[in-house]
Amino acid sequence: MQYEVVLPAAGSGKRMGAGQNKLFLELLEKPILIHTLEVFEQDENCTGIWLAVKPEERAVIQKMLANYGISKVKGLPDGGAERQHSVHACMKEMEQVDIVLVHDAARPFITHDIIANLVQSANNFGAAIAGVRAKDTMKKVRNGIIEETVDRESLWMIQTPQAFRFDLIVEAEDVAEKVGFLGTDEAMLVERLGHEVHIVESNYENVKMTTKEDLLFGEAILRKRALKNNV
Ligand code: CTP
Ligand code: MG
Repeated sequence: MQYEVVLPAAGSGKRMGAGQNKLFLELLEKPILIHTLEVFEQDENCTGIWLAVKPEERAVIQKMLANYGISKVKGLPDGGAERQHSVHACMKEMEQVDIVLVHDAARPFITHDIIANLVQSANNFGAAIAGVRAKDTMKKVRNGIIEETVDRESLWMIQTPQAFRFDLIVEAEDVAEKVGFLGTDEAMLVERLGHEVHIVESNYENVKMTTKEDLLFGEAILRKRALKNNV
């Protein structure tokens, strides 16, 4: 089933501490941004890519798209101060589609099978997001002291992609904007409407490149995949 994807790429990568947008950093000699874009470029069900960018980075990104043969980008609107604003900027430019995915440009290891599961689930239920089960014992802590041990069975660590029926995410974003609500992910905006959001089990490789050590994990994942493809 077909979909279009929104990739917010207008952050500044402060936690990475590279002094530039972390999406330009390379993993095995290819920018993180390109690794992510290639997943969608190569997915035959993806019919369009929307990229929120910083105005001062638009020209260099457009050059990268040409160099790496990324052809599905339909628009590169200005991102905003917060990730949610960047996503909203893309949604405002999109034409009506059935299913839209929102995916962090900083998560280059998402796979086609998880994307397909998300699209299917969003089509069935309206909203579906990727997540993995919490692995460690989870405790609630206040002022350095344990308050309680939380039942891990009910805890999931949430990732992107997050997939939605177009009209549902448009409504959720419009309402959030109207009341000035800022969520940490798109699902929160939909949850606020009282609409149920389904989870699709993802995998632990779908990490977000956030801090320096994530780059080491990232290169290890790429090396493992390259070896696998050679046998
Ligand atoms: N993003 C965006 N617009 C913003 C902030 C973030 O488009 N105003 C994008 C980032 O480029 C990234 C994704 O949202 O692809 C996830 O955000 P995050 O990992 O927090 O990236 P940064 O905001 O760039 O990093 P940091 O929070 O460390 O500054
Ligand atoms: Mg951020």
